[in-house]
Amino acid sequence: MTVASESLVTLDALSVAFPSRAREAGAPRQFRAVDEVTLDIRAGEVLGIVGESGSGKTTLAKALLRLYRPSAGRILYRDADLAALSDRGLQPYRRDLQMVFQDPLSSFNPRYTVAEALAIPLRLHKLCAASEIAGRVDDTLRSVGLNPSFRDRFPHELSGGQLQRVAIGRALILSPRLLVADEAVSKLDVSVRAQILNLMKDVRASHALSILFITHDLHVARYLCDRIGVMYFGKLVELGPTEDVFTRPRHPYTKALLGTLDDAPADAAAPDAFAAPPSPTGCRYASRCPQRIDRCGEAHPPLEDLGGGHHAACIRVER
Ligand SMILES: Nc1ncnc2c1ncn2[C@@H]1O[C@H](COP(=O)(O)OP(=O)(O)OP(=O)(O)O)[C@@H](O)[C@H]1O
Ligand SMILES: [Mg+2]
Repeated sequence: MTVASESLVTLDALSVAFPSRAREAGAPRQFRAVDEVTLDIRAGEVLGIVGESGSGKTTLAKALLRLYRPSAGRILYRDADLAALSDRGLQPYRRDLQMVFQDPLSSFNPRYTVAEALAIPLRLHKLCAASEIAGRVDDTLRSVGLNPSFRDRFPHELSGGQLQRVAIGRALILSPRLLVADEAVSKLDVSVRAQILNLMKDVRASHALSILFITHDLHVARYLCDRIGVMYFGKLVELGPTEDVFTRPRHPYTKALLGTLDDAPADAAAPDAFAAPPSPTGCRYASRCPQRIDRCGEAHPPLEDLGGGHHAACIRVER
């Protein structure tokens, strides 16, 4: 594991609001899919984001890449606040922040060969002379473990794992500083999944980049990530070094999530912790929480530093 402390990107109270689906009179017109998330992505680290479906993981990633416009908060990168920039102002930063999606096939144009798919970002960002493109494409294919003979194939001629390698190559060809991988291995067979995870470990080291790795799969997160952030209904409720979070989870929700694993800590909450809807006021998790007290209904607690880089947002946290 890399010991990294220098921050690459800082999210400062980042929020993303969407129109609310609730139609009753008096219902709020918007809800925050990401709600004041504060988080550092450090240079060279793999930071995992876990949380159940709908907790805001993808929305967080898309806001960070400015595919969604944040409704509040800041995204501090180099000398800029990406949240405040216009599309034009974002241009110089875009190539530094790249994404790999869940479904490799749908992220490729079926009419372009692998070589064309890899050449497009190079041309778009005018990164090298036309005469150098073919060489860069071949180098990139090799760096993601594919023989350059793949250059003339079409997406439908590749397996899921091969396509995900090309997708990673398409991101890496721009020499980004951050790779955002959203459920990038969840559609792959188990054996292929391990290969792609190992490829991510390799490219993190060889390309000196940070990876924001979003996953449902806690085992995968534990294998790959240096630190883990846990999201619950738009809130970051726990953040810490991976092994600390797994061996000594501090937020009741994290304990409940880990309770679904075989080697769960003894005090892990029962799975029915997932049954109730989020609390509209107070701590979002209060309505599901086995450790709830009256004061939990007052306000959602801030993420607090518990020492050793471990943070949790819970007034009942053990120190
Ligand atoms: N473009 C959108 N417009 C309106 N609501 C959205 C939009 N995208 C996401 N949402 C809502 O925001 C919330 C968070 O969704 P998001 O996709 O970020 O969750 P997720 O953690 O990535 O879930 P999953 O694990 O299923 O991928 C959900 O309630 C979702 O329905
Ligand atoms: Mg998602």
